[in-house]
Amino acid sequence: MLGNNKSNATIDKEQLELLKNAQKRIQQKKRLYIHFVVFLIGSVFIIILNLILGFGKTFKLFNTDWFVFAILAWLFLLLYHTFNVFITHKFMGKNWEQTQLEKLVSKQKKRLEEIKNTLPNQENSNTSEIKKKTDLKKNITIIAAVANNNAIGKDNQLIWHLSDDLKRFKALTSGHHIIMGRKTFESFPKPLPNRTHVVITRQADYKVPHEVMVVNTLEDALDVSRHDNQPFIIGGGEIYNQALKFADTIELTRVHENFEADTFFPKLDVSVWQETVSHHFKKDEHNNHDYSFISYTRI
Ligand SMILES: NC(=O)c1ccc[n+]([C@@H]2O[C@H](COP(=O)([O-])OP(=O)(O)OC[C@H]3O[C@@H](n4cnc5c(N)ncnc54)[C@H](OP(=O)(O)O)[C@@H]3O)[C@@H](O)[C@H]2O)c1
Repeated sequence: MLGNNKSNATIDKEQLELLKNAQKRIQQKKRLYIHFVVFLIGSVFIIILNLILGFGKTFKLFNTDWFVFAILAWLFLLLYHTFNVFITHKFMGKNWEQTQLEKLVSKQKKRLEEIKNTLPNQENSNTSEIKKKTDLKKNITIIAAVANNNAIGKDNQLIWHLSDDLKRFKALTSGHHIIMGRKTFESFPKPLPNRTHVVITRQADYKVPHEVMVVNTLEDALDVSRHDNQPFIIGGGEIYNQALKFADTIELTRVHENFEADTFFPKLDVSVWQETVSHHFKKDEHNNHDYSFISYTRI
């Protein structure tokens, strides 16, 4: 969708993601193994401490030596750790998500084949048309809070505090890829939970926490988010400017005031963007300004 010559880059990104996940799994299993060894050594040590060196010999619970309870408690922690590694992380981690996505994609491909077969005398070019249309179902969404004068930020910070806007941002973006410029990423105290961060920078070796993905172009950011049916472009000004042409939807919070700022949202072309939903809200104890939630779709 975003370029003609993407296949190699696509494979590299996929492999990179899988490699990252594999490394994560290896680390998790290594830590569990170390925990197991420490548990064995620790248990022997506690037994020697109690039975041979006589430490806490007189301290008993239910007529049983204390070391039995200590070891049982530790064993419980070890079992919990094992459960986490082999059940929680296995089934709810990235690998599991990836497998589910692949299953979904293969189902969609099958469905596409069925549709193709039901259409008589279709040329090959029609197949690629259908494919293109399926690709276009992805809903690339820009999400932004924008003042009346299009201000969005100053000194790499937001200018206002709107509790409801933050809640809406969380509700809409949770579980999705959030694509952002390096400066916006640096404006966060830490990565946001339950979202895949994709940070765009021109720097070759920009360092981020391991769960954050770094790319060098906006096209690559959209490419690594291609399995997400609604990746969000979350700013800032530079990225909004470049991303507008790729977006299908805009979720805008219009803050009904003018602000002094150093970063602005691009002016929307009304011949391209149609307002589909709009809800107006008055300021209250949690929101310092009047605001509206407005959805736009590409005409
Ligand atoms: N109101 C809102 O909804 C909202 C949302 C988000 C952010 N903001 C505000 O917006 C401000 C930040 O926006 P900003 O425009 O200054 O910065 P930004 O868009 O967040 O990030 C700019 C950086 O992104 C990288 N970049 C941009 N285009 C690129 C490209 N084509 N290829 C590779 N890298 C590229 C560059 O990083 P390198 O310099 O590392 O190469 C560039 O310096 C802050 O004040 C923030 O609070 C507001």
